[in-house]
Amino acid sequence: MNKLKCINSLTWGITFLCLLPLSVFAKITHGPYLQAVGENEVTIVWTTDNPCVSWVEVAPAGDESFYAKERPSFYQTRDGNRVTGKLHKVRVTGLTKGTEYRYRIFSKEVLRYRGQHDVLYGKVFSSDVYNRAPLRFTTIDDKKESLSFVVVNDIHGRIDDLKALCKPVRYGETDLMIFNGDMVSFMIDETDFFAGFMDEAVKMFAGEVPVFYARGNHETRGAFNMSFSDYFPSATGKLYYSFRQGPVHFIVLDSGEDKPDSDIEYSGLAQFDAYRSEQCEWLKQDMQSESFRTALYRVVVVHIPPFGDWHGQIDVREKFLPILHQAGITVMLCGHLHQYIYTEPDNRTHDYPIVVNAHNTSLEIHADANGMNVKHQDTSGKELHSYTYRKKD
Ligand SMILES: [Fe+2]
Repeated sequence: MNKLKCINSLTWGITFLCLLPLSVFAKITHGPYLQAVGENEVTIVWTTDNPCVSWVEVAPAGDESFYAKERPSFYQTRDGNRVTGKLHKVRVTGLTKGTEYRYRIFSKEVLRYRGQHDVLYGKVFSSDVYNRAPLRFTTIDDKKESLSFVVVNDIHGRIDDLKALCKPVRYGETDLMIFNGDMVSFMIDETDFFAGFMDEAVKMFAGEVPVFYARGNHETRGAFNMSFSDYFPSATGKLYYSFRQGPVHFIVLDSGEDKPDSDIEYSGLAQFDAYRSEQCEWLKQDMQSESFRTALYRVVVVHIPPFGDWHGQIDVREKFLPILHQAGITVMLCGHLHQYIYTEPDNRTHDYPIVVNAHNTSLEIHADANGMNVKHQDTSGKELHSYTYRKKD
């Protein structure tokens, strides 16, 4: 090769490298995980390191190859457009209740987007359905005869405790998982909660076992808290919501912050008193629902307990308890105090027990027509306390 040819080859090589899209490095960075699982829908969430348009393919449960036929695709859309970005939350609808499905996620990198007809796409990548079994989920079902779920709270980014406490969580055995607040200490950016607990939850179960989240006061801290519901969407779009799975009607409340709204710590940005009042109105309506009225058990999940002398605790006590008292609540599950407290029913203020789970223990709960059993366990799986509630009339 003479010198001229060599220079030409080098020039072409450099040009070729420059033309190569950066998309070869695009990848899924977090997830996928399930959110807002309903009787007829589910939302699947994941992130990518570069902007993408994303979709989910859904197949029935069973042994048929995922490649047997073209599967229906679901896109994230807004105002008639397929959404592009790095956060992907695809709502899959039209499902049948109490039914298992398999799914596969796709992202196609958007290298350039200057208008509807000027889009340059990069690489398409997907979850693996060839070397491993496709991910699964099961829609919820109010007629399901039994229900098993696990509650953890106040993990504050302690991955080892999360791993130990979630060891028993398995698809097919655990219907759902509840994170009852303070899973991290701050919400500065998405790295806080992915590194703090969610990546590990995805590794263990969250791609197949749905997580229902009750926000804690620490999840309100940091500018990224405003994005919380983007990453953990509920069926109602609010951070307080209810859902029914089998014999249990769940009411998830957001207790907000623990100090008065005017505290210096909140820099003039807190308005949780009004927010808790707003939830009272919703709560009264929810308790009129058929789901609430026909459930064998009614479980209230709220991070801050209604006892203690900090403002958040007082406001939860004064606002929520009068509505819930003598309304057929089975148990209230709380966290926040980093210690286990079991409070017996009190006929004046709360005619149901209030359980405060510790930061390093879990509640493993099974409910069926015979009763609702709650096991309080430590990180080794040792049972510390167990009790069974019977159906209230
Ligand atoms: Fe807390």
